[in-house]
Amino acid sequence: MILPRRPLGDTGMTVSILGLGTVKLGRREGVRYPAPFELPSDAEAARLLDAARELGFNLIDTAPAYGTSEARLGRLLLDRRNDWLLCTKVGENFANGTSTYDFSPEHVQVSVKNSLQSLHTDRLDIVLIHSDGNDLDILNGLGTLDCLKELKARGWIRAVGISHKTIAGAERALALDCDVIMATLNLAEQSEVDLIARAGAAGCGVLVKKAMASGHSGTDSLRFAAAAEGVSSVVIGTINPEHLRENAAVVADL
Ligand SMILES: NC(=O)c1ccc[n+]([C@@H]2O[C@H](COP(=O)([O-])OP(=O)(O)OC[C@H]3O[C@@H](n4cnc5c(N)ncnc54)[C@H](OP(=O)(O)O)[C@@H]3O)[C@@H](O)[C@H]2O)c1
Repeated sequence: MILPRRPLGDTGMTVSILGLGTVKLGRREGVRYPAPFELPSDAEAARLLDAARELGFNLIDTAPAYGTSEARLGRLLLDRRNDWLLCTKVGENFANGTSTYDFSPEHVQVSVKNSLQSLHTDRLDIVLIHSDGNDLDILNGLGTLDCLKELKARGWIRAVGISHKTIAGAERALALDCDVIMATLNLAEQSEVDLIARAGAAGCGVLVKKAMASGHSGTDSLRFAAAAEGVSSVVIGTINPEHLRENAAVVADL
């Protein structure tokens, strides 16, 4: 069984309908999963990535906010960088158990450079603003998106956008011609259904986060999100290869 792929909006990239979310590869503190967990060992993480690749996953989502996730992925993907589309973020950093936020253009440039270095690559496929909830302030006042567009023009990034927290923020991002948004969609949280359909129709790539409500919903919720109009790929966070296979099977016919 190989996962189907879909265009990521008008970016020219094609993504598997499930992507791999990697919070649990690098961060245990300040997350809202139903049960505590240990970070996987390097050998376990390598097996997870191999299993994902075999199932047809071609998208990995990470962020500086996910603790050691970027650095671990950089090491694990050293000889297979080109097998994957890498999505990372700017704006939230996590160190010593605490998140800090900086959306200034100066920080964005440093953050993207750090991500390029951590991931051992010369180009990031997708970089999203990792919103702290103040979507409109970030998009209207801080120059964050313009800076990402400038880095895209320099060839450091292929597509830019926002992992938003508000519908108004996502609407503004669409008006500002973002390439990609990362939206929340699951059976218990359907307020972005129309927005996602419109974004997709407008040629914006749509990634979905929290499709299983961070582990508080089942695979019916994952299927619902993957089937929704406008969705390019659902980024599912798992460190369990069996769950990965189960999740792939649930959406394979879409
Ligand atoms: N602001 C942002 O930009 C933002 C915020 C949140 C998330 N994200 C991205 O979106 C990704 C997904 O979000 P998420 O991790 O919060 O939530 P999620 O994908 O809805 O749920 C992940 C949780 O579901 C469990 N799970 C997955 N498949 C399962 C299965 N078949 N059976 C039982 N449990 C299963 C996982 O546990 P196991 O490990 O045991 O499978 C994990 O605890 C993240 O990893 C991240 O990449 C971005």
